[in-house]
Amino acid sequence: MRKNNKQRSIVKSLLAWYKRHGRTFPWRGISNPYRILVSEIMLQQTQASRVLDKYPVFLKRFPSLRSLATATQRDVVIAWKGMGYNNRAVRLHRLARIVLSKYGGRIPADYDSLIALPGIGRYTANAILSSAFGQRCAIVDVNVQRVLSRMFWKLDSPREMRAAKEIWQLAERLLPRNNVYDWNQALMDFGATVCTSRKPDCNKCPVAQACTSKKFMSRTIVLKRKSEKKIDGIPNRLHRGNVVRHLRNLKSSRTIRADILGKRILRNFSQRNEKRFAALLLGLEKDGLIQLRGNGTLTSRRVSLA
Ligand code: ADE
Repeated sequence: MRKNNKQRSIVKSLLAWYKRHGRTFPWRGISNPYRILVSEIMLQQTQASRVLDKYPVFLKRFPSLRSLATATQRDVVIAWKGMGYNNRAVRLHRLARIVLSKYGGRIPADYDSLIALPGIGRYTANAILSSAFGQRCAIVDVNVQRVLSRMFWKLDSPREMRAAKEIWQLAERLLPRNNVYDWNQALMDFGATVCTSRKPDCNKCPVAQACTSKKFMSRTIVLKRKSEKKIDGIPNRLHRGNVVRHLRNLKSSRTIRADILGKRILRNFSQRNEKRFAALLLGLEKDGLIQLRGNGTLTSRRVSLA
């Protein structure tokens, strides 16, 4: 379907905005598929400012897909240090091994092959196709979903977003004929720096006149974070990171009794917390990050990095 006038004008304005205000990153303006893949996996759950530090270090350690595929999982998880959500490292490592054995080390340039790889969803597959292979693909992550929802629908509250399916359809329609790469990067930068989730800066917005939700956006927004599973008031996400960090730093035997580990990780190792900690370890094992040996209670089990 062709774009209507509003759509055409928004695309034009945002592309012009990107020319002046787009951010510079080491993964921009390159076409090496491996380097783009690594950046997209890192950016899935980590802010660009944080990735900026870790990205060159990781690439120095694993400069090619082959070097990543032939490393041990342990070494990859260690190199992932500081990024959090370590199961991304496990999936990236598995992906590299599959690409090496199945595609001779060349990252595939078609959607169906990419989406079948571990850790790759619709967004990441399209980001790789657009950035590394110059294909005309839309990308929709939660930031793009928020930005396009606000611009094109009259939302009742700043927190509201239209369904992803609807936004994908719109995003595909908005794609410019040329400059798809710039357009995709523009949407991301605009969502990260102007149309942010908590404090959209409508005064700096180049398309404020056309924005359907501007009236609601100018109010101060207090967004509650989604509630997370916690032990002792600390999110499990952080405990998981602490477990991996602890195991990474173990010298000599590299394994530790599960209850001793629990006492080091949790401030209060009560009976109730012990059960929760056991469940947390099972989750890490299921994600392929750790190995649990032995059966029964934590005292009779040993833990190591997988
Ligand atoms: N998030 C995901 N991909 C990104 C990119 N290429 N630049 C900035 N943020 C991103």
